[in-house]
Amino acid sequence: MIAVLASGRGSNLQALMDALRHPPGTPGRVALVVSDRADAGALERARGAGIPTLAVTADGTETAALLEAFAAHEIGLVVLAGYLKRVPDRVVAAFHGRILNVHPALLPAFGGPGMYGRHVHEAVLQSGARVSGVTVHVVDEQYDHGPILAQWPVPVRPGDTADTLAARVLEVEHRLLPAVTLACCRRLADSGAAPGALSAALDAFVLSDTPPGDLYRALTPA
Ligand code: GRF
Repeated sequence: MIAVLASGRGSNLQALMDALRHPPGTPGRVALVVSDRADAGALERARGAGIPTLAVTADGTETAALLEAFAAHEIGLVVLAGYLKRVPDRVVAAFHGRILNVHPALLPAFGGPGMYGRHVHEAVLQSGARVSGVTVHVVDEQYDHGPILAQWPVPVRPGDTADTLAARVLEVEHRLLPAVTLACCRRLADSGAAPGALSAALDAFVLSDTPPGDLYRALTPA
């Protein structure tokens, strides 16, 4: 079972829920959605899909609340889809190698504390970089730091603003996060192996010239 942690509107959560619904029999199901914001759109989406939700306060009490909820919902994989708080160290330790995060840039560049949302895209534009992209990585005790599982490039176009670049990057997030999550669920279902060992399999696709539209199909064989 998958728990998704999100602080915002939940478009990555939606992409993940949609991807896990087809084809029937796809391993992995979102069984819990958690937010540090009681009014987060992500919680609304979860409720609309009949998925249990949990609002936590990042005041130290969330560690016990998260571990209890993960146990109650038999969570095997945690996905951070725009979660702006640090995951407590005890939770990272308890789910070592089984917490994924999507970041809207090509880590290790443009990552770390304070690098979230539009701040990331502003920094990319400020740097003059001609390519940005999306990173899905395993979470460790530091922000945006754990082993990288998959990356996908996104061009920076002349005249881009933070908003136009964010929109282009978000489209790829909506493909890469579900593709990596699905591949992790398959690996966990097949051998119980943590996602870390997955990167070799993904490299064959992520570094190829598979257009983002086909990445999904490439990683989710019929
Ligand atoms: C995305 O831009 C993602 O890269 C970042 O937070 C945002 C989440 O957007 N981690 P949404 O809530 O999934 O729409």
